[in-house]
Amino acid sequence: MRIAVCPGSFDPVTNGHLDVFARASAIADEVVVAVLVNVSKSSLFTVAERIEMLTEVVAPFPNVRVDSFAGLLVDYCKTHDITAIVKGLRAVSDFDYELQMAQMNYRLGAVETLFISTNPLYSYLSSSLLKEIAKYGGDISGLVPPTVLVKLLARLSETMEPGRA
Ligand code: PNS
Repeated sequence: MRIAVCPGSFDPVTNGHLDVFARASAIADEVVVAVLVNVSKSSLFTVAERIEMLTEVVAPFPNVRVDSFAGLLVDYCKTHDITAIVKGLRAVSDFDYELQMAQMNYRLGAVETLFISTNPLYSYLSSSLLKEIAKYGGDISGLVPPTVLVKLLARLSETMEPGRA
């Protein structure tokens, strides 16, 4: 059984991520979408909320499941018999950092990284850019799954309520 992991922050999951999960699910027996628990990074959604949104959107793919991890990705791979990390590569700007991580993960744990070229429809897309556009009222429909859009707009309106820190 070949198990692959798609790791990330997914704050929140975008249609670009979803495209990578779908394509990874076609090449691996099982895909784990693993949310990094990162206490030092502030996020809009809690890990539990991100897992809930991810679980909803991967439901159509029977061989994709969602989990979270803390610490080194290679340690998570080792304890879960994961043989490959699958990442989307959007543009040249992603390449340096992704290559560095891929090489380090191979050195640390002999885990291979496979890059999927992002669908050009989503090559400019990132969770942080989406949050910024949505915060200022820009239209992000079509860039996130509909259920995520509803939750994102609700969360942004809560955080922007007058008097709220
Ligand atoms: O969505 P992100 O925040 O760009 O994802 C980055 C992620 C989670 C893939 C990366 O930060 C990661 O793998 N973190 C786990 C800690 C780790 O293993 N660091 C060493 C990488 S060589």
